[in-house]
Amino acid sequence: MENVIALILAAGKGTRMKSHKTKMVHKIFDKELVKRVVDTTLESGINDIVVIAGYQKELVEEAIGDKVKYAYQEEMLGTGHAVMQARDYLENKNGKVIILCGDVPLISKETIINMVNQCQQNNEYATVLTANYDNPSGYGRIIRDKSGRLKEIIEEKDAKEEQKKIKEINAGVYCFDIKSLLTALESIKPNNNQNEYYLPDAIKIMNDNNLKIGTVTVNDNTEILGVNNKKDLELLTNILKRRINNRHMQNGVIIENAETTYIYDDVKIGEDTIIHPNTIIKSGTIIGKNCELGPNAYIRENCLLEDNVKIGSFTEIKNTQIGHNTKVPHLSYLGDAIVGSNTNIGCGTITCNYDGLNKNKTIIGNNCFIGSNVNLIAPVTISDNVTIAAGSTITDDVPRDDLAIARARQVNKEHYKKDVTN
Ligand code: UD1
Ligand code: MG
Repeated sequence: MENVIALILAAGKGTRMKSHKTKMVHKIFDKELVKRVVDTTLESGINDIVVIAGYQKELVEEAIGDKVKYAYQEEMLGTGHAVMQARDYLENKNGKVIILCGDVPLISKETIINMVNQCQQNNEYATVLTANYDNPSGYGRIIRDKSGRLKEIIEEKDAKEEQKKIKEINAGVYCFDIKSLLTALESIKPNNNQNEYYLPDAIKIMNDNNLKIGTVTVNDNTEILGVNNKKDLELLTNILKRRINNRHMQNGVIIENAETTYIYDDVKIGEDTIIHPNTIIKSGTIIGKNCELGPNAYIRENCLLEDNVKIGSFTEIKNTQIGHNTKVPHLSYLGDAIVGSNTNIGCGTITCNYDGLNKNKTIIGNNCFIGSNVNLIAPVTISDNVTIAAGSTITDDVPRDDLAIARARQVNKEHYKKDVTN
């Protein structure tokens, strides 16, 4: 997006999280709250992003990396004060700035794009995201004039009883004309019950100067929920889980129980793949069509499953590729492996990929039959059309078409109990 800069407010500590870490770096699935906001902003097409960090700023920087710029707020003097810390990045710019909060992680890219589009197309000096809540307590209230125009925002702690009854709230997301925002920020005073520089006061200042202000009502109220404590973290995790599961079902995936299925961000799944309950699929995995996963399967990061693959119960796979029609039906661990097609991996097979120092690769060919309870000591290569006898511990490569047996021969001691007791 041209001429748009984003500011993400992330200086706060989040005392109610009861944590030694700033709340900004707590995670939903495997992604930090503030990183979620950064990624969504990037997806909306805005590349110029400034994160305002403060408390434990090193952790915030570590989570996000160098794809954004940083400004610092040493003392928490309010949201208006936080924005002032980014002044250097705004001063020589024309255009719009969108302001987001690092602890409101489920905002959608569509909402960001809507806000910016409306602000630009309607020539608004400020566009405020609002929502209607049955229980608006805790939020700033939207005060409109007789003609319905936004006039000012009153914080709950400063609101009169009448104002507290208003159900339309400030979601804390704004798009501003940069020059007018910088001017308004100069006039903000901490004359309120929290002695803070409130960013929403810029709205009243602009309105007093007859600058056009608009609002956007959020489509889905769950987008603007903030994280203040660990109960919120659980709530938002489950909202995101629902959102992701719904998207996959709309794309043709069958999920038997969406409550107990956890699919992280950035997972692709083909049509008619069926996911049984208690299955977890982590980020960066691609799954083909007509696969069957679970129940109780754990598919970790960076797996690639071709079509018609079966991953059954109590099976964990990580950084593993599996060819079409291959089955891993139960109780296996495959890590750092490449498995061909039409292969059967017997119950209890384990790739022993870690030697205590390095992670090593296991390669298994096409049309193999790996018997039950086989240990594959990596690095090791099993060529095509190989059979491995149950209970084998395989340390050496197995050539094409061979049968490998690697287990001690059974010895039967006759009349054992009788001899011992005599
Ligand atoms: C703010 C709004 C309120 C709105 C609500 C929506 C103000 C004064 N009020 O209230 O109208 O309904 O969000 O969620 O803005 N932050 C800093 N530095 C500071 C203070 C805050 O970086 O000095 C950051 C926080 O880390 C957070 C964000 O700004 O990411 C919002 O601050 P928060 O304290 O949560 O504001 P609210 O009281 O929720
Ligand atoms: Mg808040």
